[in-house]
Amino acid sequence: MFDDIPRNRPFDAYQAFVLDCKLYWTRQIFPELRKRYAAQGGAPQTGADVAEMMADDTTAQFFGWYERHLQRMKYSGQRGLAVHYSHYREEIAAGLNAEVPERLLDIDPAFEQPEYYTNIDIHQHPGGVWSDEIAGYVYERGAQSTAPMIKKHASLWDRVKMQAMERAGPDVRRVVDLGCGFGASTLPFYAESPEIDVVGIELSAPCLRLAAQRAAEAQAQNVLFKQADAMDTGLEEGTSDIVTSTMMLHEMPPSHIKGVFKESHRLLKPGGVSIHLDFLVRDDPFKEYVHYGHSARNNEPFMVPLNKMDVLQAHKDAGFDDVEIVPFEEFDGALDPSMTSWRFPWTLIIARKSA
Ligand SMILES: C[S@@+](CC[C@H](N)C(=O)[O-])C[C@H]1O[C@@H](n2cnc3c(N)ncnc32)[C@H](O)[C@@H]1O
Repeated sequence: MFDDIPRNRPFDAYQAFVLDCKLYWTRQIFPELRKRYAAQGGAPQTGADVAEMMADDTTAQFFGWYERHLQRMKYSGQRGLAVHYSHYREEIAAGLNAEVPERLLDIDPAFEQPEYYTNIDIHQHPGGVWSDEIAGYVYERGAQSTAPMIKKHASLWDRVKMQAMERAGPDVRRVVDLGCGFGASTLPFYAESPEIDVVGIELSAPCLRLAAQRAAEAQAQNVLFKQADAMDTGLEEGTSDIVTSTMMLHEMPPSHIKGVFKESHRLLKPGGVSIHLDFLVRDDPFKEYVHYGHSARNNEPFMVPLNKMDVLQAHKDAGFDDVEIVPFEEFDGALDPSMTSWRFPWTLIIARKSA
């Protein structure tokens, strides 16, 4: 699929350059920023206090400017992903619209997107990941450099699957992946465990189409990609052993997040496990400052309210008694104190429905 899209050396070189710059930002500029922060002394209580302290620091200014513009360069401009791939619209659309077995895809032609979703060009992706028919394809390409320290991106999603399966035990029959995007987080469940019935839920039709094409390529029989809101999936109550999401919660407002926790509880069988991977900073003003800055610079405004939310209480309100919030190691050594490079504050929120 998509074999008709020719390689383009200037585009590849440009994107490789942007990725190298992001690595430089991650491995060199971020540790320098931390040193400059430490040298300031003082006892800031919040990220806002740190922002005030660092306002005139040139490294801090450069750090923010560089992050914002690298992301812009990745998607926009002549050799940005969105513009470059728009020249191959026909070829990509043909790949996306190729027939897939009916079992794999359920798009709702009358689906109405929530307003919060259409108001923002998330990740600085022009038009978001939903409005252009090729947006899913462009997003798949862009995701390859979201967290540049992860050398093999697939390992992140494998790790989530392992954690979920370990907790759910040997009798898993059904998994629901909320906010499945182009299907990368769904793939480890359906590809490695053909006996499990898997459903990916997503708002974006272009992402769902790509997810279904990738599943067809993998000759999967046991997955359905369905267009629905994660807080109102339309799936049957009490039928899932695992409900999961990866990097979805921070893309929605708190009222929606609470709705997702309630929907997760509704979907689970008694004893079933809900496991959401997202970003939470706790008790670290410097990390909060960096994270909130990232939220603004990357057009991801809901990262801040998610971080401020009492997710434990929200789970209890949704009906879960047994909840844990644990750091997530996205690659070996990521949580080692000697790790000085920038990384997202990856966190797992795990809950079990009472048996
Ligand atoms: C950062 S992406 C992660 C995609 C995928 N889980 C992965 O790990 O690659 C977040 C996804 O959540 C989707 N999303 C946002 N709000 C949603 C909602 N209310 N219901 C379903 N999906 C939603 C977005 O369209 C996007 O594809």
